[in-house]
Amino acid sequence: MANARGHFTSRFGFLMAAAGSAVGLGNIWGFPTQAASNGGGAFVLAYLILAFLLAYPALMAELIIGRHSNANIVTALSTLSERPLLRRIGGAVGYYGVLVVSLILSFYAIVAGWILAKFAAPLVQLLGFDDAAAWLAQGGLVRDLAACFLFSVLTMWIVARGVSQGIEAWSTRLMPTLAILLIALIVYVLNQPGAADGLRVYLLPDFSRVLDPSLLLSAMGQAFFSLSLGVGTMLVYGSYLGRALSEKDQQDKLPHIGATLTLLDTSFAFVAGLLIIPAMYVAQEQGIAIYGAAGELLAGPGLVLQVLPGLFDNMGNAGIWLAITFFALMTIAALTSSISMLEAPVSVATEKTGASRTRATLVIGCTIFLISAIIVMNFSALFDRVVSFTTEYSQPLLGLALSLFAGWVWHRDKKIQAIAAEQGVERGGFFWRVWPFYVRVVCPLLIIVTFTQSLLG
Ligand code: PHE
Repeated sequence: MANARGHFTSRFGFLMAAAGSAVGLGNIWGFPTQAASNGGGAFVLAYLILAFLLAYPALMAELIIGRHSNANIVTALSTLSERPLLRRIGGAVGYYGVLVVSLILSFYAIVAGWILAKFAAPLVQLLGFDDAAAWLAQGGLVRDLAACFLFSVLTMWIVARGVSQGIEAWSTRLMPTLAILLIALIVYVLNQPGAADGLRVYLLPDFSRVLDPSLLLSAMGQAFFSLSLGVGTMLVYGSYLGRALSEKDQQDKLPHIGATLTLLDTSFAFVAGLLIIPAMYVAQEQGIAIYGAAGELLAGPGLVLQVLPGLFDNMGNAGIWLAITFFALMTIAALTSSISMLEAPVSVATEKTGASRTRATLVIGCTIFLISAIIVMNFSALFDRVVSFTTEYSQPLLGLALSLFAGWVWHRDKKIQAIAAEQGVERGGFFWRVWPFYVRVVCPLLIIVTFTQSLLG
């Protein structure tokens, strides 16, 4: 291996980077509308419980495997066992994860490109270039390709700078900015007419909706995507933790760090709802349609590219600043996630081939951009298929494989006990008493149920 491994320089830096990965478009345009249409406060509560019962143990599996093996997902999984067959399966699962996360990045960068263009449009308009602003705001093949390219370049630029100088440094700057922008927007929007209706829809609990099993299951899927699970991003971030934890911290801080991360991700999703849902009802107050054909609250592209821009357009000069702030927020959320996606294949390439980080980042980043370009040019045929192949099918399957590896392969080789002992908590610690069984039996069962549900439904 030609390259020294990167590492995070502090626990705070790790938390910002990992929270940056987790908090993304999923939190801002997925969670709030799902909550508002499905039982409001009751859904928020159910989601919180699910995040801690299912996603948190799976997240811990990734962090522990990464931290222990000190390697990328492919190397980590192919060295967990001594048995040749299990080693080969582990390697294959790792490569599958790398493929999936690259494909997730390929569609994520397209969406992030739209958002980047929406961010640039009002800026260009302020400078007096109305035609350019209209072109940026409108969409179309060339704009979509250019915007996606620009976003991909930003992602590559940060990743090429390395773990501490690039990923950690930028996450530590961007995540607090994200929090400030979010709070500023919430304060503004909550003071507009109509906002209170949105708050009511978002927060008043309707427990009858929440007991619907299919809803619980889709909430689990959302939790998986939102915590960036199954594809090796959290695993490789965990592997960069080594030196960020002092000798003493290594005792049993990891479960605590994972819990903080889960709480941060869930809190961001919840707080984003305090902005998105009231903003939708403010828009409705101004005559903008916020429900789709089937009577559901508009979500995803419809929400972010129609409802909210419609609202900003209606608000004159204040609207221009609101649009800039809102799309800056979305761009930051997307960027701290996309760098974590690119890091997964880049870490494999540098550690497997000895290629330099810059070279690996360029080659992989450009290849993923080419895939994005193919998707943009065949949008209606490819986009939804890539999204569902990666997030609906592959992420749960990979989560299952990772839980089985952590729970069974490791268990058989008595690795978990070894790690627990290494962490100095072989007796007593609640986490280490419960988690090994949990990740071996409960996580796989829950994931299998989710998966069959998504196959059937
Ligand atoms: N968690 C990110 C979001 O909510 C998406 C993501 C998935 C990031 C997989 C990394 C890996 O938008």
